Amino acid sequence: MEILSSSDQNVQRAAAALADGLLVAFPTETVYGLGADAFNVHALAKVFEAKNRPHFDPLIIHIAEHDALSRIADTASLDRAAGERLSILSRQLWPGPLTLILPKRPQIPALATSGLATVAVRFPSHPVAQKLIRLSTGAIAAPSANPFGYLSPTRAEHVKAQLGQKVDFILDGGRAAVGVESTVLDISHGQPRLLRPGGTPRETIEALIGPVEFSFAQAVNEAPLSPGQLESHYAPRTPLVLCRRGELASLPAAATEGRLYFSPSTNHSEAAGHGTRVLSQTGNLAEAAANLFDMLHELDSLGLRVIRAEEAPLSGLGVAINDRLRRAAGHTTPAL
Ligand code: TXA
Ligand code: MG
Repeated sequence: MEILSSSDQNVQRAAAALADGLLVAFPTETVYGLGADAFNVHALAKVFEAKNRPHFDPLIIHIAEHDALSRIADTASLDRAAGERLSILSRQLWPGPLTLILPKRPQIPALATSGLATVAVRFPSHPVAQKLIRLSTGAIAAPSANPFGYLSPTRAEHVKAQLGQKVDFILDGGRAAVGVESTVLDISHGQPRLLRPGGTPRETIEALIGPVEFSFAQAVNEAPLSPGQLESHYAPRTPLVLCRRGELASLPAAATEGRLYFSPSTNHSEAAGHGTRVLSQTGNLAEAAANLFDMLHELDSLGLRVIRAEEAPLSGLGVAINDRLRRAAGHTTPAL
């Protein structure tokens, strides 16, 4: 499938394709999504097939106006505390990189939510995503537009290279500005729980609603709470090894090895060479997050034996960066 510019005409064509049950890859501020009409079971089935995604891993429903939420989530059934959290978070952080887990409405097919009683909802801030959603049924189910387990796409070209003919349309909206997926927060019952660190830092959420649980611990053989928690995920084809900060610069460089630094290291003499990338020249977490998958895609295309990546500082967006790096290396994030 060719990549289409996000002109009004192309967005309209893409919306018509969604209405016909086709798949449309579209830009969001986090990563590119592989969209299907959220109410069309056949289209939803194609999403799982195109991604080779297991059916136990539910999809996020994307909306483009606050009023659309009540068609997807049973907000009336929330207790008072949860209702207040929803109102604060949706008013303050939507549109943006935050996905909320809420009780589901029966109109949303069980396939989209893997049979769970809850549904994941997100209101992206990317203008092309919003336009496409508004021109469609107002609810697009979309996982990241990559084969299951592989690096997420931050450019239209990544989608084309990874999914090719499995997508009917690819809308180009430029490079994703946030660069890591949305934060997934369960506010459906009890204490709010962070299921996936992402583009909205935990600190931002806690400043608004107080403490959230942050635990990825799960029993062996237990069905994952949020299958983004699977140990190996977001992975390049080249093996990736994670190093502590500062450790990487002291290792002797080898031509067949790639390196991903968080920030420039004072004691490494190699220039930003063939297989070396620096996530942020100024040590800025937002810039590092925006570069993360982009640089991993680049390094993965170089035919290296191994990629060594340095951890980011463990605060703000650094939590999401380290989570993706650990999973790319095949480890889970330990509970903090
Ligand atoms: O930034 C993003 O969230 C991107 C863009 C395209 O919006 N989407 C994305 O989707 O990352 P995906 O499918 O790659 O990840 C969705 C995550 C998965 O970890 C899934 O298990 C979790 O959300 N999830 C979805 N519904 C859930 C539910 N009802 N309960 C718990 N976790 C859920
Ligand atoms: Mg994904």
